[in-house]
Amino acid sequence: MSVRKIVEGVYNVGAIDWDRPLFDELIPLPDGTSYNSFIVEGSEKTAMIDAVEPDKEDEFRRNLEEYGLKKLDYIISNHAEQDHSGLIPYVLEMFPAAKVVTNKKCKGFLMDLLPLKSEQILEVKDGETLSLGDRTLEFISAPLVHWPETMFTYLQEDRILFSGDFLGSHLAVSHTFSKDDARTYQAAKRYYAEIMMPFRAMIKKHLKKLDEYEIDIVCSVHGPVYRNPEFITSAYKEWVSDDVENKVIIPFVSMHGSTRKMVEYLTDEIYKRGIEVEPINMVEAELGRLTVAMVDAATIVLASPTVLVGPHPTMLYTASLINALRPKTRYMAIMNSYGWASKCVATLKNSVGNVQSELIKTIEVKGHPEDQDYNQVKDLADLIEEKHRELKLI
Ligand code: FEO
Repeated sequence: MSVRKIVEGVYNVGAIDWDRPLFDELIPLPDGTSYNSFIVEGSEKTAMIDAVEPDKEDEFRRNLEEYGLKKLDYIISNHAEQDHSGLIPYVLEMFPAAKVVTNKKCKGFLMDLLPLKSEQILEVKDGETLSLGDRTLEFISAPLVHWPETMFTYLQEDRILFSGDFLGSHLAVSHTFSKDDARTYQAAKRYYAEIMMPFRAMIKKHLKKLDEYEIDIVCSVHGPVYRNPEFITSAYKEWVSDDVENKVIIPFVSMHGSTRKMVEYLTDEIYKRGIEVEPINMVEAELGRLTVAMVDAATIVLASPTVLVGPHPTMLYTASLINALRPKTRYMAIMNSYGWASKCVATLKNSVGNVQSELIKTIEVKGHPEDQDYNQVKDLADLIEEKHRELKLI
C-alpha cells in the first residue's frame, strides 16, 4: 500500500500484510494485519512513530521513497516488539543522525533485540514532551499493553494519540480510516482477547488516564485509524469491565462420542434455561472463536476425554491458553469421559489455576454416559442457572 494521509503533515508509511497466516507462530490472522508507521512533520523537526516488521522492508522502502522523506530527526519507539522496531536499524542507515526516542525500559529492550547503541537512543520520561517546532509530542507511560515497556505518544496540537498495539486490530484493509463497522469491532475484540486481555487491570488504568486527554484520532500500529475514538475506547471499557454476559462456552474434544453426548445434553439444558451457550469443538475451531467468546462469557465448561490418563492434548492446550489469557469468567466446570483410569479433571483444574473463577462442578463418567450421568449434567445446568441468577444475568 502507498502513503496514506491522516491529517496535513501526518502520514502512515507503514505496510500491509494481506496474507500472514500466524502471529507469534500462534495467533491465526484470518484478516491479515498491518504494521503502521507514522511520519509527523513539524516546522523544524520530523519524527517517525514506530517502524515496521522486517519482512516488509521492500514495501516500507517503497513508501518512504514515494513520500520523499528528505530528513528525519527522531524515531519514536512506543513498543520494542520486532513487528514495530525491527526496521529501526534500517531507518537509521538511511538517516544516521536520527535519534531513537523512547523510555528507559524500552531502550533496554531495543538494545537487547536490535543492533543499537546507547548513544543512538534518547531517553524520555512519562509526561515529557518533544518539540518538532509547531508540533509537540507528549510521551505517556502505559506499561503492559502488552509488554512492560509500552508507552503512548500524544500529538498535542492535532489531538492524535499514537497508541502502539493498544486499541489495534489485526485487519488488513485498503481504507485508511476505520469504518466503525461490525467487521472492525470483531477484529478489535479478537485482538483485545488474544493480546490485551491478560492485562485487563492495567488497561482500566490506562483508559482512565486517557480520559484526561482530548483525542480526535487514534492511530494504532495495527489496523485502520480511528477518527471516532469513542468507537474503540467505549468497546474497550466494556471488555475490561467486571461485567460478564449471560453466556456459557463449552470448549470440548470428543474421541468416541461420550464427551460429545454430555456436551450436547448440557448445551440443550443451558439453552432451555434462557442462557446463551456455545459449544466449541477445539479440534476444528479456529482459535479466535474461543478467544472472542471468552471476553465476556460468565461461565466456561471444559469437556475432555481421557488420553493415556490425562486430558486430550488439544484440551490441555486449550486449558493452557485460557490460563494464559485469564478471561474474567466467573465460573468454570469440567466434564470428562474416561476408559479405566483418569487424572484428566485434576490436570485440567491445575491448568487453569490463573483464572480467577469458581470451579462449581466436576463430572467424571466411565465410558458413555448413563442416566445417572445425564442427571449430573442436568445438575450442572441447574447450578449454572443459579449462579447466573445470583449475578442478575437472568
Ligand atoms: Fe504489534 Fe506487540 O507488537
